[in-house]
Amino acid sequence: MTTTAPGPGPLRIAIQIPAYSPTLDLSGELLSGEIKVGDRVLFSPDNQAGVVSEFELSAENRINLSLTSPIHLAGSALVSHEDDVPVQTDVFLIKLDTPLSKDQILSEDLEVRICTNQISVSVVAPDEALNTHKEITVRCAAVVAVDEYDDLAATGSCELFLDGIEISRGQINMKGYADQRQLRTVRATNITRVNHRVTDEDRRNRFGHTGGVLWLTGLSGSGKSTLAVELETELFNRGYQVYVLDGDNIRHGLNANLGFSPEDRSENIRRVGEVAALFARAGFIAISAFISPYQSDRERARAAADDFHEVFVSADLGVCENRDPKGLYAKARKGEIPDFTGISAPYELPEKPELTVDTGNLSVEQSVQAVLEYVTANFGATPEHPGV
Ligand code: ADX
Repeated sequence: MTTTAPGPGPLRIAIQIPAYSPTLDLSGELLSGEIKVGDRVLFSPDNQAGVVSEFELSAENRINLSLTSPIHLAGSALVSHEDDVPVQTDVFLIKLDTPLSKDQILSEDLEVRICTNQISVSVVAPDEALNTHKEITVRCAAVVAVDEYDDLAATGSCELFLDGIEISRGQINMKGYADQRQLRTVRATNITRVNHRVTDEDRRNRFGHTGGVLWLTGLSGSGKSTLAVELETELFNRGYQVYVLDGDNIRHGLNANLGFSPEDRSENIRRVGEVAALFARAGFIAISAFISPYQSDRERARAAADDFHEVFVSADLGVCENRDPKGLYAKARKGEIPDFTGISAPYELPEKPELTVDTGNLSVEQSVQAVLEYVTANFGATPEHPGV
């Protein structure tokens, strides 16, 4: 049995599951596409899959669905076929029908509803939103499944609420932001962790300090690489185990197959976050120097590591553009480099970095000193190390 209601497009069913318990039977609203018995379907954003054993479509596109084996999830889910899936993201742009006021943009109580999913959001870069009032970028309290409005209106439309009152409707757009599905999907099966016999403490005792990640983030030209290399030298000379992972270097090797699209940048940071976490587990201070413009990516890097310190290398766009050590800003302004951070691609300011180094106003020596003090306070004092 196949149904064609409610029309063409990819399969999308919006469902709500009230509580975590293994469920065979679901009901929701068929928003688009066709379904038939035996179809393998995916529940986003949880990414659990199931096979349809039977279904029944009633008036107003209500659909009751049974699966061959139970799924285990709660809350809102968007059902699709496995080969035509919605976007997964916690950040997107909304083209608003009704412009928002300043108070609304700055409010901490904003909510967005997409199909049946209502979620808290905050406006990213409110200053930019205040300039246009017609477009806002929002960060959601959790990852959601959506489509771009231009691909599918039913799942790409949203309503904004403040204190329970609808204040605008809008269209979802992913311009400048990556679909996070690939970054969250574990494909390998039949894998078992191996336990190390050398412990964190063994390493700490040998090296005289804990391992961890110093994650430098900031615009191109803000001084990340300069700071990272100076720090590496200073810390090494003081007996620390330390290694720099730098964007321009890693992009020659491990990440040579990645460019600067939102998806490639996210994958760049996912890999580096994992590598930095490995260095830190090996007892090193891993200093990473990547623009890492997206907050979600930096949060993923934080989650990968046991000990993570975000260092915002802060210099205004104007300062970086004046420095322009590689002549890239000039090229970007002429339109010769697409997706250039700060010019034609976003940089999301760190919300709560552990340390901010104002390289716009400090000298290199002062900046290095500020981080050295931070390291001494947080990773252990300069270790006694033979040969130093
Ligand atoms: S990230 O955004 O994915 O974190 P990453 O730090 O690895 O970027 O690389 C940034 C470096 O690549 C810059 O310092 C600059 O030399 C170079 N680069 C080339 N194209 C771009 C671009 N479109 N935007 C920013 N940097 C670029």
